[in-house]
Amino acid sequence: MDVWEAIQNKRAIREFRAESLRSDHIDRILNAGRRSQSSKNSQPWHFIAVQNKESLAKLAETGAGMGHVAGCALCVVIVVPTENERTLWHFFDSGQSAAYMQLAATEIGIGSCLGTIYDPEQAADILGIPAGFQTRLVISFGYPDDGAAKRPLQAGGRRVFDDVVHWETW
Ligand SMILES: Cc1cc2nc3c(=O)[nH]c(=O)nc-3n(C[C@H](O)[C@H](O)[C@H](O)COP(=O)(O)O)c2cc1C
Repeated sequence: MDVWEAIQNKRAIREFRAESLRSDHIDRILNAGRRSQSSKNSQPWHFIAVQNKESLAKLAETGAGMGHVAGCALCVVIVVPTENERTLWHFFDSGQSAAYMQLAATEIGIGSCLGTIYDPEQAADILGIPAGFQTRLVISFGYPDDGAAKRPLQAGGRRVFDDVVHWETW
């Protein structure tokens, strides 16, 4: 699968088979995030790789749309420094690392979905995140279950090209 194919086919996968991921695949996903670009090459991120079922179940309670975390094989929690003058870029950079990890996973047949944390303090308690750092974003990874794998692409519609793209001026 080339990058274009991965971009075209990647869907948010929220239902996973109860199967662990290979450790070299886990390393590849985490390395993709580590390799991501960032503002001024600041690499502000830490990634907490969570596979423990009890922790996953607790994490799933930290946001309204986090149910998929409870059933995933691996949850990567993206941690960045707490609010400061570079917060905007920290969250932009987090998104970059997330996209890299998700595309790397797509190439090796691993599905993923982002999750938004509404209660960062609860997440910090669960994961032992130290003062000076925060998390708002996690990614669930796992092998797509049969239903998720077969769901038609049209459910993941996108705005049409001419609505999105402006040439030279608005
Ligand atoms: C910043 C961000 C936060 C997201 N948070 C959640 C979330 O909390 N729960 C969830 O199920 N999906 C979440 N998603 C996934 C989006 O819903 C998904 O990427 C979007 O609907 C497109 O899905 P598709 O590629 O299958 O069409 C999030 C995506 C992004 C980029």
